[in-house]
Amino acid sequence: MEVIVEPNQLLHQVTKPVTLFDESLKKNAEKMRETMHTHHGMGLAAPQVNLDLALTVIEYLPKEKDGLVIDFLAICNPQITWESKQTEIMTEGCLSVPGFEGQVSRPKRVKVKAQDLNGEKIVIKASGLLARILQHEIDHLNGILYTEKLVPGTELKELTPGT
Ligand code: CO
Repeated sequence: MEVIVEPNQLLHQVTKPVTLFDESLKKNAEKMRETMHTHHGMGLAAPQVNLDLALTVIEYLPKEKDGLVIDFLAICNPQITWESKQTEIMTEGCLSVPGFEGQVSRPKRVKVKAQDLNGEKIVIKASGLLARILQHEIDHLNGILYTEKLVPGTELKELTPGT
């Protein structure tokens, strides 16, 4: 799958809810997973591969054994039902904004209501990196990029190629 990059209107639209939990949905999720791996991403939202669906995949399998692993998650129709008042600033990047990163402040912990690929209801309580990725991906499904949420007074930083 090809990843859509900015500027592109497809990245700024609210996606349609997933209503068909069929084989094609599972195939799309698997293709998105492969695409995410190819680009070394930790999350990928359907609109980034030109699919108008409230579907996102998340997975973090670091090469270094730093202890933190996020097992593969395919999430449909996610909604944040609770967020902590406590926020934290983290550096974010996005496969649709290649070569840049920026500082974003978000709630430290969130509770998300969603459905899995079979349409079963799931609840995810997340903190740390997973909470961060979830919020970034859910924003994608609502047509919002992290570049719209930079900490006031900070700017997008261009990454030096090869580092
Ligand atoms: Co992104």
